[in-house]
Amino acid sequence: MNISIIGGGAWGTTLAQVLSDNSHKVLIRDINEQFVEKINHKHLHPYFDLLVPTDIVATMDLEEAVNYSDVIVLCVPTKAMRTVLTEINPLLKTKKLFINVSKGIEPDSSKRVSEIVEEVIAKKYLRGYVCLSGPSHAEEVILRKATALVAASTNNKLAKEVQQIFANDNYLRIYTTDDVIGVETGGAIKNAIAIVSGAAAGMGLGENARAMLITRGVKEIVSIVVALGGKMETAYGLSGVGDLIVTASSMNSRNFQCGLRIGKGASIDEAIGSVVQSVEGIRAINAAYEIGKKYKLELPIINIAYEVVQGRCSAKDALTALLKRSLKDEKYW
Ligand SMILES: NC(=O)c1ccc[n+]([C@@H]2O[C@H](COP(=O)([O-])OP(=O)(O)OC[C@H]3O[C@@H](n4cnc5c(N)ncnc54)[C@H](O)[C@@H]3O)[C@@H](O)[C@H]2O)c1
Repeated sequence: MNISIIGGGAWGTTLAQVLSDNSHKVLIRDINEQFVEKINHKHLHPYFDLLVPTDIVATMDLEEAVNYSDVIVLCVPTKAMRTVLTEINPLLKTKKLFINVSKGIEPDSSKRVSEIVEEVIAKKYLRGYVCLSGPSHAEEVILRKATALVAASTNNKLAKEVQQIFANDNYLRIYTTDDVIGVETGGAIKNAIAIVSGAAAGMGLGENARAMLITRGVKEIVSIVVALGGKMETAYGLSGVGDLIVTASSMNSRNFQCGLRIGKGASIDEAIGSVVQSVEGIRAINAAYEIGKKYKLELPIINIAYEVVQGRCSAKDALTALLKRSLKDEKYW
């Protein structure tokens, strides 16, 4: 099957290798000319400088990528998603299946990618939408290390179709679910807690503190997922807790690295600027804070992280504020 990938960065080019391993023909579209040349002429992954299969090709021409296949994989940072979809829409001539593999929430609107796709793509050209998410460092998948993801769609047949497209017996297992809200929300909000965990490490705190923040952070992720209409079990699954485990404790995570710098005293701009790839977690903190306010949720970690992001509180003062909260029972629900 021909498959188009929009966004050939760390994750997009890695998924191109998965699809090539599964005998699909892949065309990547990226706006970065150097990436496109590296893939086409040197057959190298643009970030990891590892050889990728020679049948993977790349282009800067969006129209060529859209016409190439009826399956479009979206892999640009969420902040660029609406612009990219708005450029894609007038180019559509046939029905397409949209598979979103990006994690995050749109800045300002706090919309999920499924909502943006529904708003922007003409219904007559939308065969369906599936979100593919879960604990997956591109650095490991590119080396074909064992990984599991979940494909979410309100249309079970489409989720199963995506399961078949991406699953690889040797290293990639795909589960399915109908809970798009749960998968998209968990995958976005866990980045907020990953930044907090990184900040704790940056402040020189130990693993006890990280375990505290991650465990209590899970409670906050679950509250947000459920408030937005997702399922609690999804938040505890691969796309929520699973992804938090890899993101909140690994130097491979740009969100963790960003938090690390905040914990060491960098400003938010400095912390974001020092990570080459996209950092979705700062936007996730803002979005989670707004959702908490709207639904009147108890989110002490998110709320204090928001104050840090706004520059109104240092990471050290944030920790003090959390520790000074009134003592209580360990109740989750
Ligand atoms: N890196 C990972 O391990 C990983 C794993 C799973 C999911 N994700 C998610 O995938 C998304 C992308 O992450 P990434 O790591 O590949 O980021 P990245 O910054 O490495 O790549 C994003 C790519 O999108 C391209 N791009 C930006 N605007 C574009 C546009 N308008 N049209 C076409 N291309 C455009 C950039 O040139 C870049 O190559 C994020 O939402 C991230 O959370 C990443």
